[in-house]
Amino acid sequence: MSWTTEQLAGLVEPDRAHRKAYTDPEIFDLEMERIFERTWIYVGHESQVKNPGDYYLAQIGRQPVVMVRDQQGQVHVLYNRCPHRGAQLCSARSGNAGNHFYCSYHAWTFHLDGKLESMPAKQGYDGTNLDFDNPEFSVSRPARTDNYRGFWFASLSDDGVDLKTHLGESAAAFDQLIDRAPGKETEIVGSCFRMVQQSNWKIFLENQLDSSHPGVTHESTGKAAQHLEKTIREDGRDVPMELAFLSDLARLGHDGWTKFGTVGYRNGHSSLEGYMGLRPDAPDTTEYVRRMYEAYGEKKAEEILGINIHHMLVYPCMSIQPPLQQLRTIRPLGADRTMTEIWHFRLKDAPEAIYRRSLTYYYLVNSPSTMVNADDLFNWWKCQHGLESSASEWVSFHRNAGQDEDHDGITRSAPDSMSEMPLRHMMHAWRDYMTSGEGV
Ligand code: FES
Ligand SMILES: [Fe+2]
Repeated sequence: MSWTTEQLAGLVEPDRAHRKAYTDPEIFDLEMERIFERTWIYVGHESQVKNPGDYYLAQIGRQPVVMVRDQQGQVHVLYNRCPHRGAQLCSARSGNAGNHFYCSYHAWTFHLDGKLESMPAKQGYDGTNLDFDNPEFSVSRPARTDNYRGFWFASLSDDGVDLKTHLGESAAAFDQLIDRAPGKETEIVGSCFRMVQQSNWKIFLENQLDSSHPGVTHESTGKAAQHLEKTIREDGRDVPMELAFLSDLARLGHDGWTKFGTVGYRNGHSSLEGYMGLRPDAPDTTEYVRRMYEAYGEKKAEEILGINIHHMLVYPCMSIQPPLQQLRTIRPLGADRTMTEIWHFRLKDAPEAIYRRSLTYYYLVNSPSTMVNADDLFNWWKCQHGLESSASEWVSFHRNAGQDEDHDGITRSAPDSMSEMPLRHMMHAWRDYMTSGEGV
């Protein structure tokens, strides 16, 4: 079927969404056209292309792109497609192109900003329409490219708000990834974990701020970690603080999980507050805070460290955990397949132990091999299969519906709840993008 605007709008109600939004391949294609290939999509961080010639491949909706740094230090985002006969210019995920891109098929070369430079047997084009100054013969660029403090985005549409307006309140997550560094810079570390999930991209996003699931889905991991803590204590050894990343999953209990408020912002972004201040009374943290005071002064440093964002979703393509310097990108591959990439960052001039804490979280919670991730992935796969059945047409988002507070375009979840507000919020934004083609 082809979907009318009315039919698309009818897939989302105030407290539920239709299963077709998660399973229908035509809806997936419309999502790519109207959301991912129109709004601002994250490409990568500038530290992924540190040196002139460095490039990194990414994807915007269904379009392959390459982020590259030219010889003058400027970052560009280009389509990964040769204007001659269509070959992809770069096939390795990342690398260094040297002074120019060289197409491996017929050896056309391009400056690193995409402009056609040369080709063998050039005289063969004498008297033809080929024109070095015609953009048609250079590598295409997305309609708009911009960055927020070194985090690069592109939009394939000429229309729409600028990047800063699009990010709105969610920009605070990027500020945190930088401002929490005493050296006021952040750097991506090594490569990422990449996972192909057998489920729809929205199921992944919905899970990120779902405080009603960790105590259930991750209870077994939490209990195993609690058991390990007990054994370590009985042996008279100190329990590593990082084990709490896992044991908290069981320790917090139902009441504990209700303490984490969620906030919905314009354009579909949302955040989870209050999980980890990460200010234990420990020597490494004390030293870190001392360096922050030295860099910013006490007042400003406390302001930065006091920002209450545990987790930010930048709709529709990212999830960020600034207190632990983690960032995930979301690359939808099909209605029932989604690739995520998980990165972590190093804060310049922070004590090594602060970096190690981030790395431990990366391994214990976010790596594909942890039980935390495995249990999530299994649930998402089961959701996808369940939604493909016609047992019922609707997905329920009823928890605390009608009890959240709206003020000036910002929605706060009901106090002491495990409100499904972020799920409702994102689906309402989804409906607006899908039916108007623009942000809300
Ligand atoms: S396809 Fe690239 S040079 Fe021919
Ligand atoms: Fe989870």
